[in-house]
Amino acid sequence: GVPVAVVEPLAPVKQELSVIEKSKRLAAWTAVDHHIHEEHKVIGIGSGSTVPYVVERIVQQGEKLNHERVFLPTGFQSKELIVKANLRLGDVDQYPSIDVTIDGADEVDHDLNCIKGGGACHLREKVLAEAAETWIVVADYRKNSDVLGTTYKQGVPIEVAPFAYAKLLQNVHLLGSENACLRMAKGGKAGPVVTDNGNFVIDAPFDEEMMRDPHELLTKIKMLTGVVEVGLFCHMAQAAYFGNADGSVTIK
Ligand code: 5RP
Repeated sequence: GVPVAVVEPLAPVKQELSVIEKSKRLAAWTAVDHHIHEEHKVIGIGSGSTVPYVVERIVQQGEKLNHERVFLPTGFQSKELIVKANLRLGDVDQYPSIDVTIDGADEVDHDLNCIKGGGACHLREKVLAEAAETWIVVADYRKNSDVLGTTYKQGVPIEVAPFAYAKLLQNVHLLGSENACLRMAKGGKAGPVVTDNGNFVIDAPFDEEMMRDPHELLTKIKMLTGVVEVGLFCHMAQAAYFGNADGSVTIK
């Protein structure tokens, strides 16, 4: 098993945040403190609601350090975060070797495998995870689980080429996901969600037996023609930080 450590609570935060928000912030701040150091010059910034706290903590490290760094986004949201924080924006095509990427996750299992893509950013997130010497996950305690699919019920996010989606729904169904569906944008006649790369997303729930071997499942889905990327991140994280409701942080 992966060793689990609990670190002391950080100093109390100033504004009143909900327990969940405090947990996200604790995870993010602790991960930055542990993994983003002076020598790290190329930093990947992930997506989701935990990542703003990563950027917040990086900004607190001061202009002197940050002025020598470049920050690579995993999507529109993180690009905005980087720009608004006055950090230097780069891209992975300019900097294909990243020192550290910190990202959120929808769920993390006992082996540090993750479901990602709840925000439909998992293609770029995986590229920035793979390109990083160190890939760290930050989340609140609700994402910490034993088997993937236990807490994140929407299914495995699969980014697909738009014209292939109907065939892929059939094929994903044949793989065992009877309730796979095309992710739709919220609101009236909004239509399918379109990723930053112009693709669609299929959400494919699989039963517990299949989710117990996420790497095998990833391989099967990835083989389907028209699949661009799968939101299963296997054996990629060096560590995962979970903020807990009592103000401590669990590190897997
Ligand atoms: C987006 C992602 C996010 O990292 C994931 O959805 C977690 O987000 P949050 O921190 O809001 O829970 O994978 O594609």
